[in-house]
Amino acid sequence: MDRRRLIKICSVTAALAGIRGGALGSANAAELKEYKRVKLVDDKGQAIKIKTLSTKEAYIFHYPYKGTPCFLINLPNKAVAGEKLTTDDGEYTWEGGVGPESRVVALTAICAHQLAYPTREHTSISYYPPGENPDPQRAGQIVCCEHARVFDPAHGGKMIAHNKVTQPLAAIRLEYDPGKDELYASGVYGAERFDDFFKAYKQELIKEYGPGVAKEEAVDSAAVVLLSKYSAIRDMC
Ligand code: FES
Repeated sequence: MDRRRLIKICSVTAALAGIRGGALGSANAAELKEYKRVKLVDDKGQAIKIKTLSTKEAYIFHYPYKGTPCFLINLPNKAVAGEKLTTDDGEYTWEGGVGPESRVVALTAICAHQLAYPTREHTSISYYPPGENPDPQRAGQIVCCEHARVFDPAHGGKMIAHNKVTQPLAAIRLEYDPGKDELYASGVYGAERFDDFFKAYKQELIKEYGPGVAKEEAVDSAAVVLLSKYSAIRDMC
């Protein structure tokens, strides 16, 4: 954790806003945290190509740590940057989708409510592409069946359709190389809760990865796999 570089982009934005407005901007704790830049690859170690990504379900990869799962989603439509999102610690602006049509997004797959996450055995949180879920409020959304929180991947993981406010899913910053059609993850912004996650699932993570491994930063590459191949059982709700 101490190796990561903190870039307080929102603090700078707030300060500039204060200057322009002739008054001090309020402190904003939302931060982009840069982690190691890793290439997203398939199960053979080859770079994944956006043009081959399915729009029918989400993929899973682990970032910024070896034990922290994220969704990679190829949305049906452009995900526009600029969404203003709020966490318990401040505000930030979502960077939107990447790729030729700005449709590819990545968000943590650790539920912002009580940290449900996909395991090899089971997942209660997943992405419902348009048409899969008869509930129109869930079509195209990430839904956590534990307590019915719904998060919108086209708007930075913002929580919708629940009367109790929950923070957005933390966003993974993606970088796209158009020449090679390759994707990289290079940071996290929004309400990351990795420390809480490591504490809550300490024994499970040791059992799956070995002592200390889940907390190691991902390096060089992260394997991307369809959620249906990653988790044996998917809750539907
Ligand atoms: S843990 Fe996901 S909604 Fe409660």
